[in-house]
Amino acid sequence: SFYNTAIAKPTEIFANRQNSAGLNLHIACQREPFIGAVRSHYAKTYDGASIVDGKTVAVQAPLAVNSPYNLQQAVGTVSFADDALLNTAIASAKQSWQKWSKRPTSERAAVLDRIADLFETNQHELIALCTREAGKTLQDGIDEVREAVDFCRYYANEALKNWPAPTVLPGPTGETNELHMTGRGVFFCVSPWNFPLAIFTGQVVAALVTGNAVLAKPAEPTNLIAYRAVQLMHEAGVPTNVLHLICGKGSVIGQQAMEDVRVDGVCFTGSTATARRINQTLANREGPIVPLIAETGGQNAMIVDSTSLPEQVVKDVIESAFTSAGQRCSALRVLYLQEEIADRTLALLQGAMAELRLGNPEHYQTDVGSVIENRAQVGLQAHLDEMGKTHTLRYQTPLSDDCPTDSYFIQPTVIEIDGIAALEKEQFGPILHVIRFKRQRLEDVIAEINSTGYGLTFGIHSRNETFYEAVARKIDAGNIYINRNQIGAIVGVNPFGGHGLSGTGPKAGGPHYLMRFINEKTISNNI
Ligand code: SER
Repeated sequence: SFYNTAIAKPTEIFANRQNSAGLNLHIACQREPFIGAVRSHYAKTYDGASIVDGKTVAVQAPLAVNSPYNLQQAVGTVSFADDALLNTAIASAKQSWQKWSKRPTSERAAVLDRIADLFETNQHELIALCTREAGKTLQDGIDEVREAVDFCRYYANEALKNWPAPTVLPGPTGETNELHMTGRGVFFCVSPWNFPLAIFTGQVVAALVTGNAVLAKPAEPTNLIAYRAVQLMHEAGVPTNVLHLICGKGSVIGQQAMEDVRVDGVCFTGSTATARRINQTLANREGPIVPLIAETGGQNAMIVDSTSLPEQVVKDVIESAFTSAGQRCSALRVLYLQEEIADRTLALLQGAMAELRLGNPEHYQTDVGSVIENRAQVGLQAHLDEMGKTHTLRYQTPLSDDCPTDSYFIQPTVIEIDGIAALEKEQFGPILHVIRFKRQRLEDVIAEINSTGYGLTFGIHSRNETFYEAVARKIDAGNIYINRNQIGAIVGVNPFGGHGLSGTGPKAGGPHYLMRFINEKTISNNI
């Protein structure tokens, strides 16, 4: 064996990998010190910019970054990159990836483990940033850091388990056969603002542990979280020429990076329309044919039949539709209620929505915060106004007193509609559409859901095994959840991702995800 032969030695820590522990905000003695520690970071401001070769490089005039739930509150500034800086970053990544790829898997995995440790040590600051820059509730912030940490430890473990050394294959006498794994080269990772730490980290560390260099471009609203995360990744031992942060507009700097033939793969989470544009760009450029790993949106539905447990349904619907202000690609958008139980379920739902606290996410009792930006607020409000003209608006959760006026709040809303065709596209916010169905029309309902072309998450509530097994089999979606909520996929437990209009099918946090980032090389040697 003569190529990248260093053998990885799995350590105890990886063998005993567990998902990170949570925190119960309802227990005062856990909550108070935690909130105090998070608050101690509220006064900080950050001057973020791209990080190339380990240096923060502010090229363009800084733009103000404010909290979406209070536009008077400064989080800092961000400076965008230009062509020259992007070029420097790509050249540096291109030059360094092979050396990184040749390091033993165990070394790269150990770096991921150190990133996880540093994220945990700095969790209060990261959670504070998730709230202040992305408008996340404290609970969402806790879950965000946990997921980021879990991605690091899970992918480190998977890499160690699968590629401790080249795979030795059988062959005729006198011939050795080995399958070697290497990185593909330079990965361009484009992440979304709705999981500004977790998905950002998941993409980056998956590409790194498999031996790639990375250019990471965070979403425009959440550069500062990414800026802090990359600082910690470098501190954990990721070589500064292997990981670069590029801040800027997707349509400008992102487009330019994708057109560059030195980029060997793209990992993207965001809208279906953008994924299509990326696909076109990659198809039209010269140079190697490279993969696109895309996770996009959904028109996620849930079917509830008359055998379901009403209180459980309501709890799971509320969580699925309104957690993170509905700004999850997994979130429930269309709820199908069997007509016999529709009125009662809607009444219970209304009661539960009246209890939701829509307010300042810095307050630990807030369930739903603001949406991310003005464009989102305007678009969602326009949808509500339009729907209000022709459909029945059932209920809206009122705003709490602590919602500043200069902010992007949207009230959690339930609207009754006739069919999914009334919805032109995914509405990425706290809006739940309800459709009544007759039991004998179940096949039409399934066909209607599949006809959207999306295939991300899907929920079923029923105590009838024959019913839920048949529905689960027929619905074309990447993640099917039975008698539970349909959000919050856990790393290593609910591998997450869809197909069709929802993406190219990778399962983040699943055992096959890393395969998407590697090149395989068979070496057959007739000794
Ligand atoms: N992974 C997230 C969830 O399951 C969505 O992106 O909610």
